Parts: sequence; C-alpha cells; structure tokens
Amino acid sequence: MKFQPKTILITGASKGIGRAIVERLGINGPDPENKIYHSFILTARSKDKIQELAQKINQTGGKAIAIPCDVKNEKEIQNVVEEGLKTFGKIDVLINNAGIGKFKRVDEFTYEEFIEIIQVNLIAPFLFTKYVVPSMIKNKSGQIINISSVAGLNGFKTGTAYSASKFGLNGFTESLREDVKDYGIAVTVICPGGVRTGFGGSDENRIKDFLLEPDDVAHTVEYLIHESETANTKLIELKPRKRKEFRI
Ligand SMILES: NC(=O)c1ccc[n+]([C@@H]2O[C@H](COP(=O)([O-])OP(=O)(O)OC[C@H]3O[C@@H](n4cnc5c(N)ncnc54)[C@H](OP(=O)(O)O)[C@@H]3O)[C@@H](O)[C@H]2O)c1
Repeated sequence: MKFQPKTILITGASKGIGRAIVERLGINGPDPENKIYHSFILTARSKDKIQELAQKINQTGGKAIAIPCDVKNEKEIQNVVEEGLKTFGKIDVLINNAGIGKFKRVDEFTYEEFIEIIQVNLIAPFLFTKYVVPSMIKNKSGQIINISSVAGLNGFKTGTAYSASKFGLNGFTESLREDVKDYGIAVTVICPGGVRTGFGGSDENRIKDFLLEPDDVAHTVEYLIHESETANTKLIELKPRKRKEFRI
C-alpha cells in the first residue's frame, strides 16, 4: 500500500471547503483500488448535512461518524474528541476548518460580533488541539492542519476582526509546531485566497471574480496528508491563479 489510512477529525464539514476535503479524501482514500479508505469524525452545527455526508462515506467503503457541535462551546468540542477516540481509538489528523467572517468598518462592529469571530476562528482551533494533542503525544505521531487565510498574512479594509483572528491562528500554529514537534506531530497552516463558497454571504462581484474552487484547497490537504513522515510543510499560501487583486 502506498499510503496509510488515517483517522481524520474535521470541523466545518457541512459545506464549502470542509465538505470538499471530506469528499476528496473519502472518495480517493489512500488506496481506493484496494478498497482502503480513511476514517472520518465529521463535525459542524448542521446535523442533517454531516449525517448525510457520513452516510455517503460509509457507502463508499470508508468509515465516518457525524457529531454535531457548536465550536463556541468547549464541552461540545470535548465531546466530539472523546466520541471520536472512543469510536476509532485514535485521531491521526485534526483539520481545524470551521470559520466565519463579517466585514465592516471597525467602529461598526459590536463587541459580541468581534468576540464571536475570534471564538470560532481562533479559540475553537485551540480547544480542538488541546483535547486531541494528548492522544497524539501518546502515539508519538499525528498531524494538525489549520485552515487560515491570506487575511492571516495581509490586513485589508473591513477586515479588522477576520484578519485579527487569522493572524492569531497563524501565530498559534507556528508556536504549536514548536510545542509538539518532538512528538512527531506535523503542524501546517494553509492560507487560501478567495474560495468559491457561501462564506461570509454571497457577494455577486466576488462570485464573478477569479476564485479558487473548494476542491483546490482539498487537493492541498490531500497532499499534506500524504506528506513524508520526515517532512513538515509549515505554511502554504494558496492563490487563485488568475485573480487580479495581488494580495487576495
Ligand atoms: N471561502 C473563502 O473565500 C475562504 C478563503 C480563505 C479561507 N477561508 C477559510 O476556510 C474555512 C472554511 O470556509 P468556507 O469557505 O468553507 O465557509 P462556509 O462554506 O461558510 O463553511 C463554514 C463551515 O464552518 C462551520 N461553522 C461556522 N460556525 C460554526 C460554529 N459556531 N460551530 C460549528 N461549525 C461552524 C459551518 O458549519 P455549520 O454552519 O453547519 O455549523 C461550515 O461547515 C474558514 O475557516 C474560512 O475562514 C475561506
């Protein structure tokens, strides 16, 4: 077998990039010719959507469980990790993908709106990592992939809350790598430019622009999951090939 099957916990699996990652990895698996597939712990708030996706994976030949969770709730996060470990005995890969964005001038943000963006985009990846890492340390292997954004590398007008959360996630990821690298755990942050999803509400101009497809990000994740055990790609900045705006 070329690649090992992995148990993958992914947040934000109900739609957009998260769903595309599950569809690509679930169908391609590490070795579909020999009917060897990855296993998945899928989470998001939309129970029906993740259950339907889990069913699709289970029909393909892989194994998947769907555990609904609001990532603003620490107890619910802890429950996802515990149920995942109870079912599969290990988590090889954690993909922190769930995220939200609201965009307006700084003085127009309420305290609650600003905090919610930081909670979903930064505190939730910390909490999932906190609860998953002890089992990875025990196994002396694992991989954590954080889906950040080019907004984690560049500020922009109306982006105070979103950029703060994604710059924070990039800094968190860099320090996390130092914390866990001695245990054989790989840590990567992916910073995509605009992706064609319903993220942040549908904006006609945005949809017309050159954008990445959700499967482009999934393809990058697939590469990372099959990366050599002796390597660790730290950061990937993934741009739409033709987009005119140079930073996004
Ligand atoms: N689209 C872009 O242009 C773009 C570019 C760069 C980076 N990103 C990043 O990529 C990631 C995925 O974005 P996307 O484009 O796929 O957006 P999306 O289509 O809006 O999907 C967001 C996902 O996050 C989940 N989520 C949001 N709030 C949640 C909460 N409180 N609890 C649990 N799950 C929650 C949603 O699930 P439920 O609603 O079912 O809970 C959904 O599965 C985000 O981190 C985003 O910042 C996106």
